[in-house]
Amino acid sequence: MVRLGVNVDHIATIREARRTVNPDPVDAALIAERAGCDGITVHLRQDERHIKKRDVQLLRSVVKTYLNVELSTKPNSVSFIKKVKPDWACFVPERIEEITTEGGLDILRQAGRVKKAIGDLKSKGIKVTVFIEPDIEMVEKSKELGADAIEINTKSYALRPQGQKEITRIIKAAEFASSLGLQVHAGHDLNYRNIYRIIKIREIEEVNIGHIIIARAVYVGLERAVKEMVDILR
Ligand code: PXP
Repeated sequence: MVRLGVNVDHIATIREARRTVNPDPVDAALIAERAGCDGITVHLRQDERHIKKRDVQLLRSVVKTYLNVELSTKPNSVSFIKKVKPDWACFVPERIEEITTEGGLDILRQAGRVKKAIGDLKSKGIKVTVFIEPDIEMVEKSKELGADAIEINTKSYALRPQGQKEITRIIKAAEFASSLGLQVHAGHDLNYRNIYRIIKIREIEEVNIGHIIIARAVYVGLERAVKEMVDILR
């Protein structure tokens, strides 16, 4: 069965709309766990525009499933995460003006920096994922740089979920990664419909989903929104 990591960033987005204390992503994480998710994911951005260091520290102490923190390879982020010691860390590219992560990390061009960041976190017992495009060369490089897992960017697939081209790229990347001994995760723009083709891919062990679950929670409540996704995955 595919694991579900619920990304609670957008609970913090609502909080920050008023720069106040409610709603709290820590409360949301507990509700998501009660609804049966397998892990909690947050993205700690350089500008802390939604998730803050305080959130990551509190989540570390209350999350009973696993905590996965997305971060850039910038040294200040890496040294903070080294101290917090989440179960998993996922390296993503970060551009300050972006609305959300725009694509996979270019681990070919930034190999030295990514390798060092991976080594730093692994030395503290943190398992490391790199968020990449479904590209054979990127998969090979992820292995070479020492990652434990790849997270395949599903954005292009989500734009054309009926097509064959994008899903085939994902299947090939997933099979190749698995043959190299890498764990395979997937995420970005997944929803209650396009998830079906993704979970049919045997090599995919985990999906990370945020925006659509929080969006649905506005109408039906967070516990039900998470549970509906859990039921699909089961
Ligand atoms: N995986 C990664 C690496 C991401 O950056 C994000 C967005 O923060 C997600 C998964 C979740 O994407 P979405 O919010 O579109 O479900």
